[in-house]
Amino acid sequence: TNRTFTMLKPDAVEKGYIGPILEKINAAGFKIVAMKMTRLTTAGAEEFYKIHKDQPFFGDLVKYMTCGPIVAAILEKENAVEDFRVLIGATNPADAAEGTIRKLYAESIGNNAIHGSDSDENAAIESAFHFSGREVFSGKFF
Ligand code: GTP
Ligand code: MG
Repeated sequence: TNRTFTMLKPDAVEKGYIGPILEKINAAGFKIVAMKMTRLTTAGAEEFYKIHKDQPFFGDLVKYMTCGPIVAAILEKENAVEDFRVLIGATNPADAAEGTIRKLYAESIGNNAIHGSDSDENAAIESAFHFSGREVFSGKFF
């Protein structure tokens, strides 16, 4: 078993998709071991997405990720990072496979409904960015 980190992005929260997306996540066998609704500050979004700071879309990305509340969560499953990337689908919903979360709920490559960590290392970094140890529930509770 290992972990990945996800955020339901502002467009998905605003459109009322928290419930349907969490249902897909549960149905795919992921356990939610930490979760909160929060809002990124500009500095927070810049830090979280700093690997993209030289991309032409960085300004739009930060603006979008700070425009409203998000839902952050840590998920447990065997092969969590890779399997979750499959479940969410391609970055651009136009390229996402049928049945994936982005195919079902994303608007565009920019407003694409959900984030999933791209490596175990980044999953740990991103989880620590949003949650303290006391906020992560694992082992005896599940
Ligand atoms: P995340 O799970 O959010 O990290 O998405 P990803 O790993 O599928 O894509 P990537 O890390 O390459 O890009 C991070 C985020 O930047 C994407 O999810 C989009 O929200 C945004 N993004 C990526 N490419 C573009 C683009 O060409 N235009 C715009 N406006 N946003 C983009
Ligand atoms: Mg990424």
